[in-house]
This record gives sequence, C-alpha cells and structure tokens, in this order.
Amino acid sequence: MAIEIIATGKAVPPKRVSNKDLAATIDTSDEWIRSHTGIGARHIAHEDTACSDLALEAARQALEMLAGPRREETLEEIALTLDMIIVGTATPDYYACPSTACIIQDKLGAKNAAAMDLAAGCSGFIYGIETAAGILETRKSRKRALVIGAEILSRITDWTDRGTCVLFGDGAGAVILEKTGAPREGPEKRGLLRTVLGADGSGWEHLIMPRGGSRNPLKPGEGLKTPLHLEMNGRAVYNFAVKAMTETIEKLLAEEGITIGQVERIIPHQANARIVQAAAKRLGIAEEKFFLNIEEYANTSAASIPIALDEMNRGGILRKGDLIMTIGFGGGLTYGGNLIVW
Ligand code: ACO
Repeated sequence: MAIEIIATGKAVPPKRVSNKDLAATIDTSDEWIRSHTGIGARHIAHEDTACSDLALEAARQALEMLAGPRREETLEEIALTLDMIIVGTATPDYYACPSTACIIQDKLGAKNAAAMDLAAGCSGFIYGIETAAGILETRKSRKRALVIGAEILSRITDWTDRGTCVLFGDGAGAVILEKTGAPREGPEKRGLLRTVLGADGSGWEHLIMPRGGSRNPLKPGEGLKTPLHLEMNGRAVYNFAVKAMTETIEKLLAEEGITIGQVERIIPHQANARIVQAAAKRLGIAEEKFFLNIEEYANTSAASIPIALDEMNRGGILRKGDLIMTIGFGGGLTYGGNLIVW
C-alpha cells in the first residue's frame, strides 16, 4: 500500500507586480530585491478574492486532472471520492471559524470529506501531506485526500515596510493523495516514503502577526494605522531557514539510507533564493538540483511547494518513478520535508 500524489493544480492571481512597480511606491530597487532574494515579481489577488477562491481554483484543476481527457467522471463525482480536505494557510478567509477547508468542501460538493485547516506557517503543505497520509492509513475505507496550500499574504503585509513587503505574493497549490496498491518498499516502491517534521518554538517571535489574536485583540473604537500585518526578524529567520533546510535534507537521506545522487529534484519552500544557495553550498549539492520559481511568484508561504509541484508536473519535469524531496520552513518556527517517489 502506498500513498501517491495522483493529481496537482495551482491558482495564481493575474495581477503581476514587478520589482520596478514596487520601487515606484517604496524606497527599494529591482537590483536590491533580486540580489538579496532572487525575486523578480509577485502576483497579488484582487481585493474581492479570498484564500478559499484561490484554493478552490487549485483544487478544481487537480480534480480535472483526474476527470481525464474524455471526462469519464464529473468533478462532482470525483469530489465525492474525497475522504479528507486539509488547507495549510496562515491567511484563512475567516480567523477562528469556519475553516477555509470547510468552505472548499461545500463549494466542491465533497460531502464525504472531513475538513480542517492546518496552521504551520510556510511548512503547512509538508505538515498537511503527512497528516493526510496518516489519516488515510488509519482506516481501510479512506482512500483519497485533497491537500492544499493557499495564501493571500498581500492582505497581512505592511506595504510601507520594505523589509517584508518585497518578499511576499499570493497563490494556491493543491494535490490529491490516493492510497494505492503500489508497494512502499523495494525497487517498484511508490509514493510518500518518509517525512521529517519539526519545530523550534523558541523562535515564535521572529515571524509574527502581533495583533488581532487573543493575546492582543483589537479593542472597540481602536483605529489602525496599517492593516493587521506580519512582522519579521529577517536575519533570525534566514539563519533558522538555512539550518533547517540543511538538517532536514541530511535527516531524510540518512533515515532512508540513500545519497543525494539518488534524488532527482529538491523542491524547497520558495522564500529566498539565497537561503537555497546557502544550504546547497553547505551540503555540496549542485544548485540545479533545486527547483526554483521564486523569481515569478515570490514567497507564497504554504502555497509555494504545491505551486512548484504543479508546474513541474504539467511541465513534464517530473516523471513517474522520480525520487523527489520537498523541504519547507517558516513561521512557528516550523520545518519539515517529504521524500516522495513520483
Ligand atoms: N530595498 C532596499 N533596501 C532594503 C530593503 C529593500 N526592500 N529591505 C531592507 N533593506 C536595507 C536595510 O534597511 C538595510 O539597510 P542599512 O544597512 O542601511 O540598515 C540593508 O538593506 C540590509 O538589510 P538586512 O535586513 O540586513 O538585509 P538582508 O541581507 O538580511 O536581507 C532579507 C533581508 C531578504 C529579509 C533576509 O534577511 C531574508 O531573506 N530573511 C529570511 C526571510 C524569510 O525567509 N522569511 C520568510 C520565511 S517564513 C515565510 O515564508 C512566511
């Protein structure tokens, strides 16, 4: 029995904001942003678009992939085969209640699926895959899960803070996991082989939305100078990210008893190309092994890895049987990685 990714989808808002566009509104430059992050542009959602809108579009694309060219099954019929929906997000439609996953469940008509959001910052997709796989494994009758990473980071960005606003973008990516009869061991092994998950809660203050929660709620009559927004200690997050990436790659390789040469591609969380370059250098891995699309989308948090997977899948970069690694890190601070035979 294996847990395989059988379909992917993504949604990116059409509005593209280049570094030059940003430099017209704040004190920054294309040269600074590119040289410090590798980012060239980001896509920003229309003000009427919420997290579930992007998540739904990504999910529909994944379901359509299963419908097949002759559309043997309708999307509604496929949605009924879902047993679980997990949305990794830090920017749900509504804080506290309802979960974005419940909104997706309703809009897809996935009446047989349980649904919940998962708050693990940018590691939300990695955590979501492991959580969904565990849930599928506990019951014979559970076969399929939809795992989505979706963010509207532009809505919790302080657009006057050049230290953070140049980094973030909006988007969503989705995968469908299926419990199949393929083997999990041996030369024909398929699907999710292993996952590393971790957290360093001592760094919780380094990436934080300080207002609006139960610790620091908004008070009646209080005016806000800027929208509720993320604050970040960039240097501390950078140092954590390089260490987390390096150690997670090493751990996955050691636990599986393989070398990096056996891994076809690494799909890292797209936070900063320099973080990837630093980790690659420390481990002596060629940078080309890492798939990067940060130049176009910037950091879309929990969405970045499933967006990359969908691009690679549809672009023919991933072939059946390829051994790949996903590596995430982010707010919490959290980190993790999946080792997957595509
Ligand atoms: N344009 C121009 N100058 C800038 C900008 C900007 N957008 N931002 C900062 N600067 C300036 C600073 O003011 C500072 O100037 P000073 O020396 O005169 O004071 C100088 O550039 C250097 O600033 P640093 O903050 O030291 O720049 P650094 O090289 O550390 O890069 C960065 C900052 C890109 C944020 C880096 O620390 C980083 O990538 N950190 C990790 C961020 C990250 O990955 N966050 C997300 C992870 S979790 C998630 O994905 C939600």
